[in-house]
Amino acid sequence: MSSFHRINSLQDYKNTYQKSIENPEAFWDEIAKTFTWKKPYTQILDWNFKEPNIQWFADGQLNITENCLDRHLETKGNQIALIFEPNDPNTEVRKYTYQQLHQEVMNFAQVLLNQGIKKGDRVCIYMGMVPELTIAVLACARIGAIHSVIFGGFSAQSITDRLIDAEAEFIITQDAAYRGNKTIPLKSVIDDALIQCSFVKRVIVLTHANEPVSMIKDRDVWWEAELEKVGNANVPAETMNAEDPLFILYTSGSTGKPKGVVHTSGGYMVWANYTFEQVFQYQPEEVHFCTADIGWITGHSYIVYGPLLAGGTTLMFEGIPTYPDAGRFWDIVQKHKVNILYTAPTAIRSLMTNGTEIFNGKDLSSLRVLGTVGEPINEEAWNWYHDNVGKSNCPIVDTWWQTETGGVLISNLAGVTPSRPAWATLPLPGIQPILVDENGKENSEINIETGYVHGNLCIKFPWPGMLRTTYGDHERCRTNYFATYENLYFTGDGAYRDSDGNYRITGRVDDVLNVSGHRIGTAEVENAINMHAGVVESAVVGYPHDIKGQGIYAFVICNDHIHDESLVRRDINETITRIIGAIAKADKIQFVSGLPKTRSGKIMRRILRKIAEGETQNLGDTSTLLDPTIVESILANKQ
Ligand code: WTA
Repeated sequence: MSSFHRINSLQDYKNTYQKSIENPEAFWDEIAKTFTWKKPYTQILDWNFKEPNIQWFADGQLNITENCLDRHLETKGNQIALIFEPNDPNTEVRKYTYQQLHQEVMNFAQVLLNQGIKKGDRVCIYMGMVPELTIAVLACARIGAIHSVIFGGFSAQSITDRLIDAEAEFIITQDAAYRGNKTIPLKSVIDDALIQCSFVKRVIVLTHANEPVSMIKDRDVWWEAELEKVGNANVPAETMNAEDPLFILYTSGSTGKPKGVVHTSGGYMVWANYTFEQVFQYQPEEVHFCTADIGWITGHSYIVYGPLLAGGTTLMFEGIPTYPDAGRFWDIVQKHKVNILYTAPTAIRSLMTNGTEIFNGKDLSSLRVLGTVGEPINEEAWNWYHDNVGKSNCPIVDTWWQTETGGVLISNLAGVTPSRPAWATLPLPGIQPILVDENGKENSEINIETGYVHGNLCIKFPWPGMLRTTYGDHERCRTNYFATYENLYFTGDGAYRDSDGNYRITGRVDDVLNVSGHRIGTAEVENAINMHAGVVESAVVGYPHDIKGQGIYAFVICNDHIHDESLVRRDINETITRIIGAIAKADKIQFVSGLPKTRSGKIMRRILRKIAEGETQNLGDTSTLLDPTIVESILANKQ
């Protein structure tokens, strides 16, 4: 555990928060100086949200892996750092002590060096949830290479786009990954992605599932063979400036292709560690089980970096919650005596459908804290989680944050500040939220009837873990996050606040969908649908979905007479799977003869959204439509 002050009561939270606002530099200095710096910083913060230009601890030097690994060796060398629970519960669990993980990371770091990978090079990692994924991430950080992990569910085309955007010449992958009863041929997807990427120099392939792979001469090498060559390596941690990029993670926005959010070495480290310890109130030797995939930001911050920075024990699970049956999470909790379980509302809602018999005979008494992330949690799911999993004994932290924020921004602190169903509650120290109206004017007046004020959620002051840029396109970062409202970071979410300063997140107010906790841009899905040969135009909106939170509803215009609608629907979804990945498949596809457009040709999504939500009467003002009869015909054929 780190030696910064741990908040221990609501009053302590209030005092700490106040301090963090009154003098942010002094506040973050107190915390940041408890880390291991190769060269201590003298500058703390330099910023403006105009360009934007954000720098924390800028003249300090460090390496995050020294903070994740080396600094724990003396006192925790034999403590378990990483537990791997395989997809098949009958195969072997693997455990790594800090000592072992440190050695494995150095060995693989040497492999990376031997391949010619240098500080600043971008390395794309496309793997399943195996311990080597964590090792690969940390080995990149060890030598100062910038990792960009791509979730194993993305298609070859998505990988190609990311490789080109990140100018990544190196790839780490594995033969195949297990997910439930499926085997996913990751290397073969990479091979497809590389057809268009001749600039890729090296692919390192881990053997995991013993699946056949095609190894291309002079390009592909085996992880194991390269590892054998290095033996026990001693790779000192590369010296990084605090503002040197640590990783790129691609995420969807409301326009265009996914953008590469860039996080830096110093600020991200401080934020990941600080938020992990404060939010979960992590205690020494506790087992932390975050069910996310490392392909998403939640896995970066709360499977890899947060827990290891804190000297904790982190559990990685390869499989899915329903394999071999819907009791798998509870088996894992019992087997590894999990103390903290951090998952998504979608998982909770889908497990709820299996009833509570599944808990019979399962010992969940090790659980101390439950967490939720990724999408708004409805009260029913919150209560089920609280009563059946937490046995009414565990605080639930509802953690609101984003890929761009690096770590949690708004959440209660487990057992320290009150939890409240469906409310993320209070901002972390250093976070200054503000609710604004469409024009950027602050909404501060509480509605007397509801007791809340509502608005678009922005943050008005920087925090160490925030994104610095979007890779290769700083202007895109500015227009996406800092140009909507002057001098504010715009989150894209709407929120309520009550008179005590608690926040309830209501979801995205832009054209980003949140499907099963996965961020998907409507523009991306439309582009994919429009690739299908028969499609002229499409419009995609979200609609409320019982399990997924949001489902994808596509309105599609085709150029020919459709003989069999279900076949075309199937093929459109196959196209989406090819272009993006199966996570972006449309739940509903409605064929239409036209889309509701204004005279200037803009699609009125507001109307489509209402139709998708099941509204038939109050569609709002349709008088500006070029052809109002379109709406009637869409309504008449609703899916
Ligand atoms: C949503 C995931 C309500 C939100 C860490 C945000 C949430 C988007 C919550 C970011 C929460 C995340 N309550 N909504 N506790 N947490 N969100 O980048 O809309 O994958 O903007 O980061 O998820 O998704 P991302």
